Amino acid sequence: MSILRKKKIENILKDAAEGYGDGHNAGLKKILGVKDLTFLGIAAVVGAGIFSTIGGAAFNGGPGVSILFIITAITCGFSALCYAEFASRVPVSGSAYTYSYVSFGEVVAWIIGWALILEYAIGNIVVAISWSGYFNNLLEHVFNIHLPDWMLVDPQTAIQAFNKATAELQQNAANLSPKEIASYQFAIKAYNEAPRFGGAPVFFNLPAFVIVCLVTWLAYIGIKESKQSANYMVIFKIAVIIFVIVAGAFFVDTNNWTPFMPNGFEGVLKGVSAVFYAYIGFDAISTTAEECKNPQRDLPRSMIYSLLICTVLYIAIALILTGIESYSSFDGVDDPLAFVFEKRAPWIEKIISVSAVVATTSVLLVFQIGQPRIWMSMSRDGLLPKVFQKIHPKYQTPSFSTIITGVIVGAGALFLQSGLVTDLTSIGTLFAFILVCGGVLLLPPMPKQPGKFKIPYINGRVIIPALYVLFVYLFRDRLISAVENIGTEAYQEILFLIFLLIALIITIKTMQKQYSLIPVMGVLTCMYLLIEIPAISWFWFFIWMALGLVIYFLYGYRHSKLAGRK
Ligand code: ALA
Repeated sequence: MSILRKKKIENILKDAAEGYGDGHNAGLKKILGVKDLTFLGIAAVVGAGIFSTIGGAAFNGGPGVSILFIITAITCGFSALCYAEFASRVPVSGSAYTYSYVSFGEVVAWIIGWALILEYAIGNIVVAISWSGYFNNLLEHVFNIHLPDWMLVDPQTAIQAFNKATAELQQNAANLSPKEIASYQFAIKAYNEAPRFGGAPVFFNLPAFVIVCLVTWLAYIGIKESKQSANYMVIFKIAVIIFVIVAGAFFVDTNNWTPFMPNGFEGVLKGVSAVFYAYIGFDAISTTAEECKNPQRDLPRSMIYSLLICTVLYIAIALILTGIESYSSFDGVDDPLAFVFEKRAPWIEKIISVSAVVATTSVLLVFQIGQPRIWMSMSRDGLLPKVFQKIHPKYQTPSFSTIITGVIVGAGALFLQSGLVTDLTSIGTLFAFILVCGGVLLLPPMPKQPGKFKIPYINGRVIIPALYVLFVYLFRDRLISAVENIGTEAYQEILFLIFLLIALIITIKTMQKQYSLIPVMGVLTCMYLLIEIPAISWFWFFIWMALGLVIYFLYGYRHSKLAGRK
């Protein structure tokens, strides 16, 4: 089938070397080494996840959320190894998109390219909104500057808050705490003070928009400038996180660690999307393959190094956080690190606020670098218009794609709400991870070569079926209840049954074909995390994918470089 046409690795490398082909293509600047890449990885990983979304996960899961950090790290570890092998074999900037083109064919590659927009551009909207929250916190608490509230929030959040506040104050005022009353009055005041346009109140998130513009400009003017900025930001944020762990240890009350899982494992699993979100990013460095001095050696190493460093920090932070405050106090807290120090050591809270701003800026930067490079690769293959591969003659960055990324993320950051977007980002990324892990299984065998990373082969023939049986045994109650209630089942449990079925098929295939253990584990663990994300987000994900397919058939299918080739 022509939609499954595959691109050969040698053709991908040739197209990357030829570039835009109009005589103006200076190519990208090859300056990144293993240290820079590891720093870029950490720059992309440690951000809104650990400074914001972990709060909700800790509320649902309690201290047990630290287990989720370990499970997720293992899952990401399998994927990182698969990314590493691909990065070593196909060192071009398209990341999972290019890897899928080699292994699964064009339409799957397009789908992944389209899903990666969720990880990079849409994901960056969440990061920008988080940035804005922390920035405002900093302005108010450290510099005593108060921006008008209507320029700090998206319209949907502001209007929802206003409606809720009005209803609560009218119907339930007697039962509200002074803190709740103050927060409702604040929502009403913000609504009333907003300027009007055609009678309707106007709200937008100006700081989120401004930071996106600044970061886009940095990504535009050069990878060297971006690299240097990312390095400084990483040193600062890691120093602060280590400090928080050490200082926080003095405030830990070990009684808070019992019960370890107050809402059971189910409660812990509610944090899947938030915790996975905290890990997203190590893969972003694969988009800089064409700017690396030695991508085949350095990319694999730095992905693994950055993941390892972040995992250790995350597990420690999760334990410290849930040790300082009881899990139950994190309800609705979206700045958990600052929150736990607010009363105990306000000066630490201030340092955290500064660090959160720096950390989220670095995430924004790496994602803002990653998205244009994926579009550049898609354009080289003919799946996007040629202008997307244009490289700036002086700055040697994908100029047009960088600006378009800025426009999309900037507009989203101004007006969108962040909740659903986190889930979508996690789904899109997990989807990409699954295909990268699965893709490794389809690669032609490669003899071990010095300087190239290859996943060690462990035969999955016995281990995978054994793990499958163990999983079914451990989850037997859930399985029985899902089967018994199949007619009236919630969508989440249907996803669980589908997972078991697909996992069974993969297990049988592994027994037959003696697949390598690590990629198969990557596929299965990512699939498992995927089905734990709320079904409603899946609905939006399918809509997004359907839109992508329509665009592919209207444009990419006909303009693909492989279209006329036999
Ligand atoms: N992992 C990145 C963050 O937490 C996306 O901000």
